[in-house]
Amino acid sequence: MHDRQRGSRSKLTDFGDTPAKEFRKQLHELADWIADFREHIERFHVAPNDKPGAIREKLPKCAPEEGEPFEKILTDVDHIIVPGMVHWSHPMFLGYFGWTSTASGILGEILTAPLNVNAMTWRTCPAATELETVVIDWLRQWVGLSPQFEGVIFDTASVGIMHALAVAREEAGPGTRKLGLTDRNLPRFRIYTSDQAHSSAEKAAIALGLGEENVIRIPSDDHFRMNVKSLSQRIAEDRQNGLQPMAVIATVGTTSTASVDPVRDVGHVCREAKVWLHIDAAYGGGFAMLPEYEWMREDWELADSIVINPHKTVFVPLDFSVLYVRDLARLQRVFSLVPEYLRGDTVEAEKNYMDYGIQLGRRFRALKAWVIWRSLGRAGVVARLREQIRLANLLVEWIKKDDRFEISAEPGMGVICFRFVGDAAPSPRPGMRARGRAGSIDRIDAINSDIVERINASGAAYLTQTKLRGRTVMRIGLGNVLTTEEHLQKGWEIIRETAEAAYR
Ligand SMILES: Cc1ncc(COP(=O)(O)O)c(C=O)c1O
Repeated sequence: MHDRQRGSRSKLTDFGDTPAKEFRKQLHELADWIADFREHIERFHVAPNDKPGAIREKLPKCAPEEGEPFEKILTDVDHIIVPGMVHWSHPMFLGYFGWTSTASGILGEILTAPLNVNAMTWRTCPAATELETVVIDWLRQWVGLSPQFEGVIFDTASVGIMHALAVAREEAGPGTRKLGLTDRNLPRFRIYTSDQAHSSAEKAAIALGLGEENVIRIPSDDHFRMNVKSLSQRIAEDRQNGLQPMAVIATVGTTSTASVDPVRDVGHVCREAKVWLHIDAAYGGGFAMLPEYEWMREDWELADSIVINPHKTVFVPLDFSVLYVRDLARLQRVFSLVPEYLRGDTVEAEKNYMDYGIQLGRRFRALKAWVIWRSLGRAGVVARLREQIRLANLLVEWIKKDDRFEISAEPGMGVICFRFVGDAAPSPRPGMRARGRAGSIDRIDAINSDIVERINASGAAYLTQTKLRGRTVMRIGLGNVLTTEEHLQKGWEIIRETAEAAYR
């Protein structure tokens, strides 16, 4: 990173923009900054080891009265912001789901900045609107979804699921859009999802006035997949008790283990019970592009809505999530509302994406997807996803060779959950070893947590911990194109050394 001198006062004119010549100079400097950052990202600690408030302490409490030169701002980025970051793009970042920064993705983001349009209606930016339709359809084709499904781009899967459930709510309780839920003698609506599903289900229930306690967590089986028999039973019981089953959320790629619910069986239960089926393929959706994962998407046609997060697995930089709905007009019926001042903007028959959600102003997200997907092509995306799977399998082999560790769940796509147990006999069920030489089961939990905390605090690598059946496990999520076999090998060494130190 360049070490800049404090720049002189900016040449900002009093009323307008930065003069063109100066802007060009700043852009060149920024281009170098970005290229240096990306090329030398391994120089940084993956994560800072700061206490909360450490960054704020280095920053002025009040905004500046007078404008400051860009050079000075960039110097502060170097000295304060960058060292205070968790570097999700660092090749040793192995936490959550591996990250989607790529050079082409960065170019797509940069290109979006100067355009700065509002894609609320077709007329307010025809290219943004039409490109949104195009990239949504490209992804639909890539994952083999039927053309009955059309979509809309949101920032995140959490927002997508909330919109999907708003439609489910309207179909279960017609008139809710107009009249709301209260004083209408409506039954209590229920949503079902597995005990492994993401908390965005409850968040959506909170936002929609359905109540988080009406999200019923169905137990999962030994492979962390929803138990369909329990689902049917619970739906029947609820009906008997006068409650109204409204929606089921099946997950394709759960957050902890990337397990995949039995979508076909869940789908048939939904059809029979006449409830909405939402598929949360936020993580697994991208992998559905691979012919070897075709089984995962065979029954998606049973769904009413599906969320895929290309910002998790299709290399689009955060944020970019697609909600597909079978017959998109169902979404439009719930959310279309044209204020008078926009009426003239909506006369064209083209889609106006403001009609498909709560947001009016919408950024041009489709552009960055278009840039990265053209740059990689389908084959490039597939090759990179396969490399993640290869690396995940390799790590599993290494873990299996060291009997102080055990695999805690069947590895799924780029996700591996494992646990340090010390020297002990293999457990009958993954992750369930009662005692290891390391001591009681609680002590083993504490050691696993400690290993993750120590590694993350060291800045050498970054991983996550999660609980499976109440036990603490370490979790690695691959996905960063910069993470090579060598990085993974180094990460595994760090884990083993840290485990030894934590165990002593
Ligand atoms: C399976 C699953 N669904 C939904 C989400 C929420 O995603 P978002 O951050 O896009 O709202 C996550 C987040 O990791 C997830 O793992």
